[in-house]
Amino acid sequence: METVVSGIRSTGNLHLGNYFGALKNFVKMQHEHNCFFFIADYHSLTTHPTPGNLHESVKQVLAEYLASGLDPEAATLYLQSDVREISELYLLLNMNAYVGELERTTSFKDKVRKNPENVNAGLLTYPVLMAADIIIHHATKVPVGKDQEQNLEMTRKFARRFNTMYKREYFREPQPFNFGEALVKIPGLDGTGKMGKSEGNGIYLSEDPKSIRKKVMRAVTDSGPQESNQTPTEPIQNLFTLMDVVTDPKIVEQYKLAYADCSIRYGDMKKQLAEDIINFTTPFRERIESIRSDDAYLRKVVKIGAEKATISAAKTVKEVREIIGFKPF
Ligand code: TRP
Repeated sequence: METVVSGIRSTGNLHLGNYFGALKNFVKMQHEHNCFFFIADYHSLTTHPTPGNLHESVKQVLAEYLASGLDPEAATLYLQSDVREISELYLLLNMNAYVGELERTTSFKDKVRKNPENVNAGLLTYPVLMAADIIIHHATKVPVGKDQEQNLEMTRKFARRFNTMYKREYFREPQPFNFGEALVKIPGLDGTGKMGKSEGNGIYLSEDPKSIRKKVMRAVTDSGPQESNQTPTEPIQNLFTLMDVVTDPKIVEQYKLAYADCSIRYGDMKKQLAEDIINFTTPFRERIESIRSDDAYLRKVVKIGAEKATISAAKTVKEVREIIGFKPF
């Protein structure tokens, strides 16, 4: 059994790409491994130090993950800011993270380029906080996408360096959790590339049917198959990929045949796809709504999560303090 830690961004709603990507695997993983999932609300301050509605975004994200099947009994589900020990480990790890190496990370350089007026120290030490999140529970595995690989590498570096500096094989080096085949890549509706928040091509679990219809009907297509049995062009393949996850396979097959013999009508295909996406997302949307309005339940979830996470985190911080040399008088 692995110990898995994953941070969830506290901004933005879940889209189909998130759901069929990592989230579906989280739901499965929570029963097979010792999982810690948390909402990285401190991390969000690095780019948005004065958030307008921090609490509301955290609540929405929490409701969406619960509605998607994260089970607070199976996994430890908590808010990063509820576990004060994380900040303490972050402070201690900052003492052996070098400014030069932090300045060289790709995500830092990207953020500096995008927001030169907000280059704060929290942004620079983002990988240190992330390392604290991970090693505080002695994670063995971290599910990471391409964009987070470097951060995980830094985590291993900080863990290793701690062991070397204090001459103790204390922290282990967490490895990426590879979902392999199970990771379904969901394309966007703009013809090319995957679904993403920043790409603005997403369909959200909480999205209302009218807006879903509008987005699907506007999806990029082409001028139709030119000869029978041709391989679909990218925009059309993308629509088929979406159909594959929400539509009855028999109906998908009919559209594939219609594409193969050039009788397909993209308008019909899109109508079908839109209704199937709506059927798929409706139970999610309803659950998100009902969880969101159940403050007592949410309060209970975060309380239990904070308690469980704190037990594990407090043990680590106590040991780290001892290793470094803090002693009670
Ligand atoms: N940096 C991650 C992201 O942007 C979020 C994150 C914070 C995280 N702490 C983490 C992910 C710890 C995995 C483990 O998506």
